Amino acid sequence: MRKTTKSKIKKVTKAVFPVAGMGTRFLPATKAIPKEIMTLVDRPLIQYAIDEARAAGIKEFIFVTARGKSALEDYFDHSPELESALRRAGKDDLLEILRDTNMDSGAIAYVRQNRALGLGHAVWCAKRLIGDEPFAVLLPDDVIAADKPVLQQMIEAYEQTGGNMVAAMEVPMEKTSSYGVLQVTEDMGSILQVGGMVEKPKENPPSNLAVIGRYILTPQILQNLSRMRQGAGGEIQLTDAIAEEAKTPGGVFGFRFRGTRYDCGSKAGFLQATVAFGLSRPDLRNEFAAYLHDMIALQKAAQ
Ligand code: UTP
Repeated sequence: MRKTTKSKIKKVTKAVFPVAGMGTRFLPATKAIPKEIMTLVDRPLIQYAIDEARAAGIKEFIFVTARGKSALEDYFDHSPELESALRRAGKDDLLEILRDTNMDSGAIAYVRQNRALGLGHAVWCAKRLIGDEPFAVLLPDDVIAADKPVLQQMIEAYEQTGGNMVAAMEVPMEKTSSYGVLQVTEDMGSILQVGGMVEKPKENPPSNLAVIGRYILTPQILQNLSRMRQGAGGEIQLTDAIAEEAKTPGGVFGFRFRGTRYDCGSKAGFLQATVAFGLSRPDLRNEFAAYLHDMIALQKAAQ
């Protein structure tokens, strides 16, 4: 592994949240509600991603939005009427919960993607706000349950390696065609040296290591994206821009994170996350577990 001197590695303080997708898998709901506002237990998906980024030391939050996403922008604003009503009623616990949703002025920026040309294009839209710094990308529909937030795990690993880093997870071989897939040149346990990447391989996947929605990227990726044409599925693919860097040893690393990832961009994944996060909540666990238990018993009896 080519190690970059620690002092040369710039701190990651900016994160991009691409939220301009159309969310067609959740139609008709997404006709009126942005996918990222959909609620997992009692918090919108975007809140999980923001909390993860904050825990990893991110100070600037850049949202790539689109038409119809204004609910998302409102979500991060203060709500003076609601806050004073809660204060009058002495509901400090709820005020505390609301506080986590507020973002300081200046810490948050929005940039529009005029046409949904793909994830790579969405990230490229944030180019001017990123400047010449490494940055994180978090896809809010990938929700990850982990003891240590995954972006924090990655930043710690990145401080050793430099380069670009993508979160990687083993998937069954037959599922690789749904993901960006890594070609690994050296497996160092949690860190993988990457020699290439293929977006949604139709055949001969280079491994069963799939890229999921957490990235730490260098500004070079934005330059690569500037030259990109549409790739798999007619979209400008982030994977292709990262794969260019993988041609240089030490350019791209995979990171096997510790945690369970839920694909909340799909209905089945969203339901699985709802069960898992519901069961992990002390205030809901007993009632919900008893209900699930009864449901399963009923299903079995009906078979
Ligand atoms: P998805 O592939 O899940 O697409 O995007 P989508 O439009 O959100 O959902 P479906 O497939 O139609 O149901 C992955 C991430 O990339 C963002 C999405 O908002 C999501 O966070 N994205 C995708 C953009 O910001 N712009 C795009 O052009 C495409």
